[in-house]
Amino acid sequence: MKPIDPPKTYRVKSFGCQMNVYDGERMAELLATRGITPAADGEDADLVVLNTCHIREKAAEKVYSDIGRLTKGKTQKKAPMIAVAGCVAQAEGEEIMARAPAVSMVVGPQAYHRLPEMLDKAVQGERITDTDMPAIAKFDSLPQRRRSAPGAFLTVQEGCDKFCTYCVVPYTRGAEISRPYRDLIIEAQKLVEAGAREITLLGQNVNAWSGEDVKGAAIGLAALIRDLAKVDGLRRIRYTTSHPNDMDDALIAAHGEVEKLMPYLHLPVQSGSNRVLKAMNRSHTAESYLKLLERFREVRPDIALSGDFIVGFPGETEAEFEETLSLVDAVKYSAAYSFKYSPRPGTPAATMEGQIAAEVMDERLQRLQSALNRDQLAFNQASIGKTCDVLVERRGKFDGQWLGKSPWLQSVWFEGDVEIGDLARVTLAEAGPNSIRGELLQPALA
Ligand code: 5AD
Ligand code: SF4
Repeated sequence: MKPIDPPKTYRVKSFGCQMNVYDGERMAELLATRGITPAADGEDADLVVLNTCHIREKAAEKVYSDIGRLTKGKTQKKAPMIAVAGCVAQAEGEEIMARAPAVSMVVGPQAYHRLPEMLDKAVQGERITDTDMPAIAKFDSLPQRRRSAPGAFLTVQEGCDKFCTYCVVPYTRGAEISRPYRDLIIEAQKLVEAGAREITLLGQNVNAWSGEDVKGAAIGLAALIRDLAKVDGLRRIRYTTSHPNDMDDALIAAHGEVEKLMPYLHLPVQSGSNRVLKAMNRSHTAESYLKLLERFREVRPDIALSGDFIVGFPGETEAEFEETLSLVDAVKYSAAYSFKYSPRPGTPAATMEGQIAAEVMDERLQRLQSALNRDQLAFNQASIGKTCDVLVERRGKFDGQWLGKSPWLQSVWFEGDVEIGDLARVTLAEAGPNSIRGELLQPALA
């Protein structure tokens, strides 16, 4: 095999969930330890990492078309060295190596800490696949955090043992594991030193996180959040994504007591029909889910609720879909994500009878999304007149404009004299479906 010039610049393209964004940042930090720098916007990169997502739709085809565009000079003038990472790499690594000779490295989500050594081999002309799943080892081998945006992600838990019948995550990310308490406190401190003001704790089942505190006592996510709230300079904490069955009293109570914990909860439900939920192996009912949300609203009446939905799960009838619409009406989400069911190879639902026709799924998705959009706009309209802190994340489209997030995770834009990373005091003035116009108060900073 022909040696390849060692890459000097890289680009990491992350698709899918926030966990992938976190992994993408960590891969970038690893490449930086080898002196490889990010390619400037619009410039060719010597190494492109495609950090892929396998959760829905033609994920693998997308990877092959991205590889084709990179090698045929459509995305860049010069073809780069290519690494495929993420969940498609985990699920289909061998096929990718066989089908795409332009790929030098295939690296799974639990193995990317070995990227630098893989790179050493790749420049010798070797092609390397690493889709091992060593429990948690990767985090110990990652460099310390040195730079952070005001809003940072911190993976605290990975993997899933729930085996919802439609989902690939238990296969691509492996079993549930929690990172140790001490490591997380240290990483949070480093992120804050590096510029973070808000940290979003990530995990496929983040509320299943468990660990031991410094005294060796068994603790859950609520206690971790309470201790993170003591980190100086950290102003806001969020967490995502939770499973209804892993919710405990302590986490609900924390929402009423920990000031830095933002009034927002993302709690996927997937369907409003108990028959469908059972077939999905969700192990909660529409009623138990609604009861749980009520408890959050009791301790934090202004909490913004968000969720995930799948329409067109095999066998879903019109009446069962309408139960989902009724659940939406009952909850009044501030924002939510909805998807057409997509059969994932190797999952039980992919071979179930009663697969739903594409047109039916399209029509159901449209109806669901119009209900969710209606509620999102209503939630935004109900916020008008409130004064809150907005974490300034970036400049807006026009001069003097800034964009940031309200405590309820709404996108807010406003004009005035602030800087990125400020918590600006803003009155919410005008609601759109996807964002809110705010007016900066004086004094401007919280
Ligand atoms: N088809 C459609 N949506 C899916 N999700 C997970 N697997 C599938 C699938 N096979 C959705 C669920 C989950 C979100 C991350 O993606 O709603 O909560
Ligand atoms: Fe997938 Fe269900 Fe696990 Fe979520 S809880 S990652 S939907 S298997």
